[in-house]
This record gives sequence, structure tokens and C-alpha cells, in this order.
Amino acid sequence: MNDANSLWGSRFESGPADSLAALSRSVQFDWRLARYDIAGTRAHIKALTSAGYLTSAEHEKLDRSLLELLSRVENGSFTAKLQDEDVHSALERGLIEIAGPELGGKVRAGRSRNDQIATLIRTYLLDEAGRLHVEVIDLIEVLVSRAEEHLGVAMPGRTHFQHAQPVLLSHHLLAHAWPLVRDLERLRDWRVRAMFSPYGAGALAGNTLGLDPSLVAAELGLSAPTQNSIDATSSRDVVAEFAFIATLVSINLSRFAEEIIIWASREFDYIKLSDSYSTGSSIMPQKKNPDIAELARGKAGRAIGNLTGLLATLKGLPLAYNRDLQEDKEPVFDLVDQLHLVLPAFTGMVATMQFNRNRLELLAPEGFSLATDVAEWLVKKKVPFREAHEITGKLVAYCEQHTLDLHEVPDNEMASISPHLTPDVRDVLTVGGSIKARQGAGGTALPRVLEQIQALRKIAPKKTA
Ligand code: ARG
Repeated sequence: MNDANSLWGSRFESGPADSLAALSRSVQFDWRLARYDIAGTRAHIKALTSAGYLTSAEHEKLDRSLLELLSRVENGSFTAKLQDEDVHSALERGLIEIAGPELGGKVRAGRSRNDQIATLIRTYLLDEAGRLHVEVIDLIEVLVSRAEEHLGVAMPGRTHFQHAQPVLLSHHLLAHAWPLVRDLERLRDWRVRAMFSPYGAGALAGNTLGLDPSLVAAELGLSAPTQNSIDATSSRDVVAEFAFIATLVSINLSRFAEEIIIWASREFDYIKLSDSYSTGSSIMPQKKNPDIAELARGKAGRAIGNLTGLLATLKGLPLAYNRDLQEDKEPVFDLVDQLHLVLPAFTGMVATMQFNRNRLELLAPEGFSLATDVAEWLVKKKVPFREAHEITGKLVAYCEQHTLDLHEVPDNEMASISPHLTPDVRDVLTVGGSIKARQGAGGTALPRVLEQIQALRKIAPKKTA
């Protein structure tokens, strides 16, 4: 027999097999959409009322019942049961318990679970985007604060993971802030596309009842109804785009995580993690592990899996709705949940880690990281860059042979490498001089870093507390 609460079944002679019911059931994960479903239903009964399918007395009673249902959902006195196929069936059962079968049974007119779910996933993700925004801003704020705290401290800048040119620690930290700023911009751009309401598209072809979709869109705080009912019910590009942005946030954290793990190693010793944001080993008493960074790095792999899994689900689906689309939810829910876990811990770790300033400063000039400064000094003396590069290369080779630093090469040796290499080249052979010289837009010179801080402070204002 079919369950009396099922939303379908009258044309079936037998009820669903247990194995089908178990496969089909989504309530264990889509229950988190309950309040969005109720909001959608409240908007829908307004449209039904304005089109004349409900009297205002009926509307009032239904709306009161929905608010009662919402509070029961929120206080946990109404929950989904094992027999409920999905969040929509569970909530219809709940509404009927409160409003009675006669009135509660009118609500489903003119909508389908297909347009419902396509709407709910949007309103849900729009809310989650807001929460993510706040969490990402918190991390940007901490990066900017740490940059302000260590203004003027030099460190080795790397390419190919080899010492390349000295940079300010602040400049390096802010290089992790800007990708996050762009992720926030991406979320904002995404929002514009997500703000359309599929309600009214019905199962796929639209509804016949003359319900006003603009009214529903406005009630839900969305900008307008979708333009094509087939597209509205069958597309999940809005979900995929959100998943991409969430994955990119995760990847951006992962890149920084990798550095933090290396920086905390004995060999690097750039940073010390706070006890509250690192873990111990069950067997090695001396260990202090950068688990937050490792989990952030690990979760980026999981995020990529969620994103690519979702894209693979969407690939090759004929129009319009297919049940495959139910598989859009768990990956995107997982993306959201993992970021909500990782971001606060990551931000706390960055806020509390101690920088070993002396060591950073000490290592900044190593690895002939001032060689480019010699070459550019020669260029300023009108030596063609090709020749300047060659002269500097010879100077580096000489230093390697004699285990000297660039500034330690005697005057006569410099002159024999090239007459252009006069002793005043030593003016640029300091870390401070090198950094100060990089005044070009976006460079590591202090004034350029201060400009970045000023720009970022508009996005992530200083926290007062
Ligand atoms: N649980 C379904 C989903 O997530 C809701 C829509 C079901 N529609 C249907 N025709 N069975 O996509």
C-alpha cells in the first residue's frame, strides 16, 4: 500500500519496494531546506489567493499554520520521518496536521516539486553565500592586520620555490588576501544570476492557473521570475557556479596552508603556531602539528571531488527535469559545510601564529636574491639588459666559486668582471635598498604595500575588540 502522506501513488497498484524507497529518499539531506520550503509555500499561497483559489480567510489560516509549522521545525517538535520521501512531502504532512487535509490539500495546486526545489536551492545558497562572505572577510581582515603588525619586515620571495628576490612579509601576506577578495567578487556576480525565481515553471511547461510568478519572486526577495520554464526546472548551472566559487575558496586556502606547513617546519622556522591552533601526537610527545593547515589542504581535494562530481551529474542530461538532479545537493551541501568548518579555524590559526622576524630578515638576502638589483642598477647606467644580465651572472658565478656574497666581492675583482661594476653598486646590495627600489605599481616597496592595506581596509575594516 502507498503511504497516505505520499505526494503521489494513486495510479500505482502497489506501493514502492523498500529498496526503491530507500534509494529515492532525500529527506535525510534535503531537510536542511525546510525553512526555505516553508518560505516558498508562504509566497505560493499569496499567489494562489491573488488568483482567486484561496479566500483571504483561508489564506490567513494557512499562513498561520505555516508559521506554526516553521516554529515546530525550528524547535524540533516537528521532524521528518523515515517514510517521508523528501522535505516537500514531510512539510505537506506537517501542514496538513495543523491546517487539516481539506485546506492543507489546496496548497499544492499550480506548483511541482521541480520548480520548488529549483527555487529552494537558490534561496538556500544565497543565504549560505552571505555566511561565507562574512567568514572570508574575517580571514582577509586578519591577513591585513598581520600585514600591518609586521610592516617593514623582509623575507625571501621565491619563484620555483627557490630564493628569488626579497619581499616584505606584509606584501606576501596580502598576496593571499587578494584572491579571496576576488572570490567575494565572484560570489557577488553569481548572486545576480542566482536571484531568479523558478516558481511557477511547474513540472516543466508552466502552470495553467494564472499564478503571478513576480509576486512569488518578490515575496522571496528574488529579483524576477525565470524566463523559460524548461530551463528553470532543468538547469543547475547556478548550483555548479556556486560550487566552483566555493571550491576556489578552498583551493586558495590550500595554497596558503601548504606554505604554513612548510614555514612551521624546523628547517624553515618562519613561524610558530599557537598551541590553541595546533595539535599533538599520540605517540611523540614533542610534536606540534599544523593540522588545521593540513585539513584545509586535504579538504580542497574533497572540494574538487564535489565540484567535478556535480558537473559530471549535469553532463548529458536531456531536458527537462531528471531525477539525477537530486544528486546536486549533497556535493554542494558538503562544500558549504566544510568551508564553514575550515574558515574559522584557519582564520584563528593565521591570527595567532608568531612570525620569526629575525629569521625571515636573515634569510631575505640569501641565495643571491639581490642579483636582479645589480642587473637593474647596470641598466640604469645605460648598459643593455642583455649585457647586464650576463655581467651579473658572472658575478654570481664568481661568488659561488669563492663562497662569497655579492657585496663581499673585492673592487678589483668586480672591475675585472666588468668595468661597469663600480664599487657604488654596493648601494643596491642591501635588502632594504632592494625593497625600497620596487616602487612600481603593486610592488613590494612600503608605500605600495600601504596602498594595498588602505584598499583592503575598505573591504575588511579593522575589528574593534
Ligand atoms: N528531491 C527532488 C530533487 O532534489 C525533488 C524534485 C522531485 N521531483 C520529482 N519529479 N520526483 O530534485
